[in-house]
Amino acid sequence: MSTDNLEELRKHPIGVFDSGMGGISVLRELVKVMPYEDFIYFGDSANAPYGTKPTEVIRDLTIRHVEELMQQGAKGIVVACNTATSAAVAVLRKMYPELPLVGIEPAIKPAAVQMPGARIVVMATPMTIRQEKFRQLMASYEDKISIVPLPCPGLMEFVERGDLDGEDLRTYLQELLGAVSEKPIDGIVLGCTHYPFVRKMIQEIAGDKVTIYDGGPGTAREMKRRLQEKDLLNPKTSQGMVHFFNSRDTQEEITLCEALFSRK
Ligand code: DGL
Repeated sequence: MSTDNLEELRKHPIGVFDSGMGGISVLRELVKVMPYEDFIYFGDSANAPYGTKPTEVIRDLTIRHVEELMQQGAKGIVVACNTATSAAVAVLRKMYPELPLVGIEPAIKPAAVQMPGARIVVMATPMTIRQEKFRQLMASYEDKISIVPLPCPGLMEFVERGDLDGEDLRTYLQELLGAVSEKPIDGIVLGCTHYPFVRKMIQEIAGDKVTIYDGGPGTAREMKRRLQEKDLLNPKTSQGMVHFFNSRDTQEEITLCEALFSRK
């Protein structure tokens, strides 16, 4: 690439994709590590949830939306959805080998490194847990920790509705975690990008001795590393912009995106 083109490309935004609002938990981490970058966030709430759909459907939707972000000029893409990552990232890498492309997977590795011998519950969508990719990830760490996969159908919908601390959510989580509490839980991996928004309640129910793992910060650092490697970081030193788009395309969705983004 010529120096002129590279200089131009550095100013382009980073595209962030999720099936809905969940990827905003990753976007927040991206902004922390790359405050001077611009971001375009696309949430496919009209087709959510992805986590209960067949793999091929998720793959097609993900490819389509990633290509839309590329058409809008994204210099790199973060697939901020564990479900879409397991269904589509390998294919996207083959299609666009030059594109800085980072996906997210349940943070089992940090749990295994930090808590050898522990009993770790992995909360994720049914689809993420069914995938071969997840089985392989589990197999790599099963000699170090005891892994309990916990499919959470219906949990992302609470976040999509903006319900982050209601009584229905509490009852849902109590039942869900109750089902795997026959032995003490040492750690919980949040294997879906929607779940960090209900982390507080998960912690309350699980108890404060339980360590919670979120793959968002590691994913953000990895994207920064990839852009650095290609000399694609934006040289400006003023706060970047974030633009939200959503396939539901109502003001309500955008308002919720902004509220989740700036939530303390
Ligand atoms: N946020 C997504 C993930 O990280 C999935 C939510 C869904 O669409 O089911 O897996």
